[in-house]
Amino acid sequence: SLPSKPQVYESERNSQQPTGNLLSYPPRDQIQKAPPFQLPTPLISFSYDEDHVQEFTDSALRYYKPIPLESLGGRGPSGQGGIGRRDQGTRGGYGYGVDLNYGYERWIRRPEERGRLDPLLRAVEKVCFRGGDSEGHQEGKLRLKDISIVAWRGVMTKILTAPYEERDGWSMNVMLVNGTLYLEEHLNEEKLLDKNNVEDRQRRNMYYGYAFESFCTTEPSSSGSEGNSSNAKDEHSTSTSTSHKQDDKNPLWGGDVNTNVQWCSVVKTKLGDMRIIIGGEVDCVKGNYHPHTTDNFVELKTSMTIRKWNQGDELRFDKKLLKFYFQSFLLGVPEIIVGFRTAKGQLASVESFKTIEIPRMVRGKPGGWEPSVCLGWGYRFLRRLLDTCTEGRLWRVDFLPGSGARLRELAGEQTAEVTNNEERVGFLPVWYHVNRP
Ligand code: A3P
Ligand code: MG
Ligand code: MG
Repeated sequence: SLPSKPQVYESERNSQQPTGNLLSYPPRDQIQKAPPFQLPTPLISFSYDEDHVQEFTDSALRYYKPIPLESLGGRGPSGQGGIGRRDQGTRGGYGYGVDLNYGYERWIRRPEERGRLDPLLRAVEKVCFRGGDSEGHQEGKLRLKDISIVAWRGVMTKILTAPYEERDGWSMNVMLVNGTLYLEEHLNEEKLLDKNNVEDRQRRNMYYGYAFESFCTTEPSSSGSEGNSSNAKDEHSTSTSTSHKQDDKNPLWGGDVNTNVQWCSVVKTKLGDMRIIIGGEVDCVKGNYHPHTTDNFVELKTSMTIRKWNQGDELRFDKKLLKFYFQSFLLGVPEIIVGFRTAKGQLASVESFKTIEIPRMVRGKPGGWEPSVCLGWGYRFLRRLLDTCTEGRLWRVDFLPGSGARLRELAGEQTAEVTNNEERVGFLPVWYHVNRP
């Protein structure tokens, strides 16, 4: 029953029910019954190089390097209290100060594109085998048939946090192939243009996040002491190649930002009885890299300093923690290191959060949230997709802020928008879709 050519969806009937199939979000303020979420284990990792070409190496992996406290505005830890406290004079007389505008003109920015699943599917090809119980089995590989869901971490985060989303609606494409659901965010031309034409202010704010990553990470040194956090300076003095990586104006700088470069981990996990394969970027690791655990993965974030007297600041931050939390939780990232900055990009303080402790921090607060709401919702929603979506067809989910998720099957001309004249079956690359027993 699987379509064999990209354009097979023309003859859809019943494809546009006026209302679709709406699944409502649960109430946000009650603890929900939620299935357990299994600790993710890494299956494979890969890198994107300077041209965003995928390679199955760890070339883009970076190591955490704490920013010396005396480089921040204050006088070290004494006398500083509270989360993201605002320090006086963020360019204190110690060291260089950390200016997140540093290197902005040299930022090589990856254009926003459709979040296709192709790189993740290449990883799935390497770690899964196809076929039934007896056929095709390969030692150490997972049976693709046993996997309920394949998706990028970003999409899974958006699904789980949808009950708390108050503003932004978004859409997702869905296909069920041999019992496995494939999910990708649907970006239409307009949304793509929006993402690429951000205003200068917003563009700079985005850059602050990447600059923070550069300041507190280092490449593995070629001299072998990889993961040692104090080798950044040595690299500086001994490096002969890639001169753009070091800089003589700020010794804390970890190299100019090229957002094409990313290191990704692909993990397996389980939500209740659903096995899930998730791929996502990991900002860096602490200490040595161990390929079989996420224990020393670190997520880096920036956020505006929280003014003690300003309840709005705290509320906004607590709301943001929902996304920080699930983004990291879904890949098994145990630590989130937040750089608090001023509006103009001066780093004021750095604070580490243990991912599992975050729900307790926000519970009962004005900007608080309840993770069981998200997990319970996520399970019911994904179960609904598994039960409703027909094999090999293209489905669309519209997430409506404040109400729920609407599910419908797409008709011919709409599938053309998804495929965008590429050789695809729905949104899946032909090589992945046809390459099966
Ligand atoms: P912050 O980390 O300071 O938010 P990530 O944190 O996921 O590793 O992403 C690194 C940076 O990419 C972010 O910095 C932010 O600047 C940018 N970024 C990530 N997701 C984004 C989104 N949905 N919209 C705009 N910018 C985003
Ligand atoms: Mg990142
Ligand atoms: Mg980050």
